[in-house]
Amino acid sequence: MKEKINQILVEAKEKLSTIDSLKLLNDFRVEFLGKSGKVTGLLKGMKDVAPELRPQVGQAVNGLRVEIEALVGEVEANLKAQETALRFKNEAIDISLPGKAPELGTLHPITLVKNLLIDAFSSLGFQIYEGPEIETDKNNFQMLNIPEDHPARDMQDTFYITESILLRTHTSPGQVHVMTSTQPPIKVMCPGRVYRSDDDATHSPIFHQIEGLVVDKNISLCDLKGSLEEILKHVFGPQIKTRLRPSYFPFTEPSVEIDVSCFECGGKGCKLCKGTGWIEVLGAGMVNKNVLQNCGIDPEVYTGYAFGIGLERIAMLKYHIPDIRMFFDNDLRFVKQFK
Ligand code: DAH
Repeated sequence: MKEKINQILVEAKEKLSTIDSLKLLNDFRVEFLGKSGKVTGLLKGMKDVAPELRPQVGQAVNGLRVEIEALVGEVEANLKAQETALRFKNEAIDISLPGKAPELGTLHPITLVKNLLIDAFSSLGFQIYEGPEIETDKNNFQMLNIPEDHPARDMQDTFYITESILLRTHTSPGQVHVMTSTQPPIKVMCPGRVYRSDDDATHSPIFHQIEGLVVDKNISLCDLKGSLEEILKHVFGPQIKTRLRPSYFPFTEPSVEIDVSCFECGGKGCKLCKGTGWIEVLGAGMVNKNVLQNCGIDPEVYTGYAFGIGLERIAMLKYHIPDIRMFFDNDLRFVKQFK
C-alpha cells in the first residue's frame, strides 16, 4: 500500500509538472482527487488492509490527498498569475499616446464677419430685424424713393418672380418694414442675403448685407460718423481713421460713402488701397424725408441715419480674398482656413 501511495505521488508530481492550463489542471483534479479518482480509489481499497494497519494507512492516504491538493493549489496560483500577466500584456494601452481629436467644423468667413458686426452693433444698442428675401417692388424700390423709371434701378437689376415681386436687391427694405410697424426711437440692424443679376470677381448674384437704421429726435450726421467709426474700429482695428465722402443714394439725403484709412499700410499707400491710403467700405446717409414720410414718420419731428454694409466686401478686405466666388465654391481647403 505504501508503495502504491508513493507511486501515485510520483505520478501526480510528474503530471503536474507538464500542466500548462487551468483546463488540464481541472482534468488532473478529476483524475486524482475526484469521486472515482486515484486517491479516492485508495480509500476504497482500505477494506483489504489489515484492521490494525488501517489507521496508519488511512493517515498516509490522507497525507497524500493533502499533499496533492497543496500542489494543485500551487500550480493553480501560478497558472492564474500567468494568465493575468498575459492579459495585462495583450490588453495594455499606451495612455501616453495623444488621443484622436474629433474633427471640428469652422465658421464660414461671411458668418465670422456677420457675427463680428452683430456684436459691435449690439454693444451700441442696435436690435436685429430680419426681413423677407422675397420682396415687393414697392418695398424694395418705391418706398425707398426709387420710382419705377428711376435710373438707380439699373444698378440693382434682379430676379423677378412676377412683375411686382422680386428677390430683394438690398437689405434696405428692412427699413420700410421697421418704420411702417414702429414709431421712433428706432435703432435696428437688418442682416441678410440679397440678390442681383451680376457675376464677376467682385459681384455675385447672391451676397450679404447688413442694413442699419437709427431714427429719433435730433439725430445728425455726427451720430452716423461716431457710431460707424466705432464699429469699423471693432472690425479693422483701433488705429484706423474714417472719412465721409459725398455720394448719392435715392433713400438718403445727404448721402455719403465711408472710407477707412488703409489698415495694411496705415495710409501711406499700397496695393490694397491702390495707392490712395483709403478704402471704401460702405454707403450711408441721412434718411431721405420722402422715405420717412412714405413710412408714416413725421420728418419735421424726427430725423435718422441709415447705412448698408456688404459683408463679402468686408471679408475680402479683412482676409485678403481676391475673388468673391470663393465664398460660394464650398472648397473645404478655403473655408477651413478661417478659425
Ligand atoms: N442699399 C444700398 C446698396 O445696396 C446700400 C446703402 C447705402 C444702404 C446707403 C443704406 C444707405 O441704408 O443709407 O447699394
